[in-house]
Amino acid sequence: MSADSKAVYSPPNKVVSISHCSSMEQYRRMYEKSIQDPEGFWGEIAKSFHFEQETTGKFCDYNFDPSKGRIFIKWLEGAKTNICYNCLDRHIEAGKGDQIAFYWEGNDPADRRQLTYADILRDVCKMANVLKGYGVAKGHRVAIYMPMIPELVVAMLAVARIGAVHSIVFGGYSSESLAERMIDAQASILITSDAVWRGTKLVHLKDIADGALEICKQKDLDVKKSIVVKHLCRVTAPQSAANGVANGNPSKKTHFDDKGQYKVGWKEGRDVWWEDVMKDAKSDCHAVWMDAEDPLFMLYTSGSTGKPKGVLHTVGGYMLYSATTFKYSFDYHPGDIYFCTADIGWITGHSYVTYGPLLNGATSVLFEGVPTYPHTGRFWEIVEMCKVNKFYTAPTAIRALMKFGDEPVKKYNLSSLSVLGSVGEPINPEAWMWYYRVVGNSDVSIVDTFWQTETGGHVITPLPGATPAKPGSACYPFFGVDVALLDEEGKEISGEGEGYLVFRRPWPGIMRTVYGNHERFETTYFKKFPGYYCTGDGARRDADGYIWVTGRIDDMLNVSGHLLSTAQVESALVEHEAVAEAAAVARPHHVKGECLYCFVYLAEGFEFNPKLAAELKGKVREKIGPFATPDYLQATSVGLPKTRSGKIMRRILRKVAVGDKEFGDISTLADPSIVDVLFQSRILDGKA
Ligand code: WTA
Repeated sequence: MSADSKAVYSPPNKVVSISHCSSMEQYRRMYEKSIQDPEGFWGEIAKSFHFEQETTGKFCDYNFDPSKGRIFIKWLEGAKTNICYNCLDRHIEAGKGDQIAFYWEGNDPADRRQLTYADILRDVCKMANVLKGYGVAKGHRVAIYMPMIPELVVAMLAVARIGAVHSIVFGGYSSESLAERMIDAQASILITSDAVWRGTKLVHLKDIADGALEICKQKDLDVKKSIVVKHLCRVTAPQSAANGVANGNPSKKTHFDDKGQYKVGWKEGRDVWWEDVMKDAKSDCHAVWMDAEDPLFMLYTSGSTGKPKGVLHTVGGYMLYSATTFKYSFDYHPGDIYFCTADIGWITGHSYVTYGPLLNGATSVLFEGVPTYPHTGRFWEIVEMCKVNKFYTAPTAIRALMKFGDEPVKKYNLSSLSVLGSVGEPINPEAWMWYYRVVGNSDVSIVDTFWQTETGGHVITPLPGATPAKPGSACYPFFGVDVALLDEEGKEISGEGEGYLVFRRPWPGIMRTVYGNHERFETTYFKKFPGYYCTGDGARRDADGYIWVTGRIDDMLNVSGHLLSTAQVESALVEHEAVAEAAAVARPHHVKGECLYCFVYLAEGFEFNPKLAAELKGKVREKIGPFATPDYLQATSVGLPKTRSGKIMRRILRKVAVGDKEFGDISTLADPSIVDVLFQSRILDGKA
């Protein structure tokens, strides 16, 4: 099936007829208003939320230009609210307590639960009281390292209810990564779970968390409590793991006792079971009224220096923005069933599994598993079972499923679907077309939503009932988002052209600072082009004004929708004694979008062999997590291509990785002969 990237796909009637924004004309009118009169636009939206106190200061105030002083962004100054109250109490007071908030679908199709808004509020209040009992108060950081289970939503809302700040770390990160983030945040409480099945793989979360707490202790961070959800005993283990057979998983033997019960390490005084502490906790707890600009959460994202940045979001602006983007980008209506496959450990899960849907009083699917277990139709089975209308996933998942053909999709009745979303990386037109034709039966709107951890919510996206979509384009800016493209000199490009994707002014959901390092916030996003927020992505504007995001222009890469910095991977590799120097670059990958191709310059006396390769990959898994494992490792004994000033020229290594001999100008290299040697011994496809 070939994709015609010039084609334009108009929204189907079934979407347009009920849409909140049902024409380009209406989109332009609303967009104009959001830019000309932000206070009027967002002020009107704010009326549907509960504010204990209205804004007393400026509605929006900011400085984007470092030459004029410190960078700052403020929305709704002086207003007081609580996001947990707006997610739960507000709907329950309106009589929606019995409405289902989440259909929880386990890794195994046999494991299913339903939770109403009232159920969640009860548990949130209990957990909030437990946390208060441990001394957690407004502004304190609580780390969360959990699988996709309802307790994760409960934990984050409980933290928000009492005005504390959650720092969720994706359950695929290693002990070291978790520890690094906990230490940076100075988190004194951790909420985790014993373990989780992801497909047929058992992830030992508590083990990994215990490793992290050990590191924290060595670095003088005293983590007072680790609250552990006992999860594994209540779910169905994969067939392959039944009967106590290790099935190629040696760790299984050591993790189950004679009766087949999962065992965990335990530190008395520090470790407590979630179930035990919840039992006696009181089920009411008032929501702490927060200033709109008080911190709500931090979420770490890769930085180009290698050290992750704690992206900080605040209560008021994030609330308005996650709710409004959810409503318009997915054209949410009461009664819809919505399913976002992202893990809450990433920003997509924060904004579009928890906050956006709950703020709109929506009913969602919360999915614990993976797209290919127990079969490759798992997503579509859930869509049929739960009658999902709005579905949101990543291009990498779409590409992985495309490989199995149309049949696993066609087995299910997907006629409930009307809007399909994509996020995380540019979606290639072939994947877009497959999503549209096979999953959507050519009768849906596809929304390719561009955004970042930093932006809090969608910033460039089609609107399902209005925007004629072009496969591969994120289309137009969301309300309040003022897009510009800049050339290398920082001059704005008008009309058609390609350049740095930047924004001229803040929208309510933009991050406010890097936790504990405001200067890094200023340098990373505002220094290169004073007066603009710089995304770090490149983009092209076509003759119709559509924006096509082309990908990162800094030393970052995007593996299966997960941002990684090359520096982060390199520093993991050089920790091995055999590696004198390392350089990591991105190489296109047919499923992951991009994958890691790493060059290692070995230290004297070391020889490259499969054992060393496995150790190096293990090092990356240990320092960062399994998702960062390099696909290609090329050893060199001649060194890496460097400029005379000693800077590794990654531009050339990227060419070597893809087998492209057009190196461009290599005259600045200290030793140009290295390039040929590297090229000759490059790893060809399939020989990784
Ligand atoms: C990339 C994920 C093209 C981009 C929400 C961005 C995209 C980075 C798209 C942020 C898209 C995300 N089209 N590229 N629709 N969505 N990206 O912080 O490079 O994990 O800067 O947030 O992902 O990744 P992050």
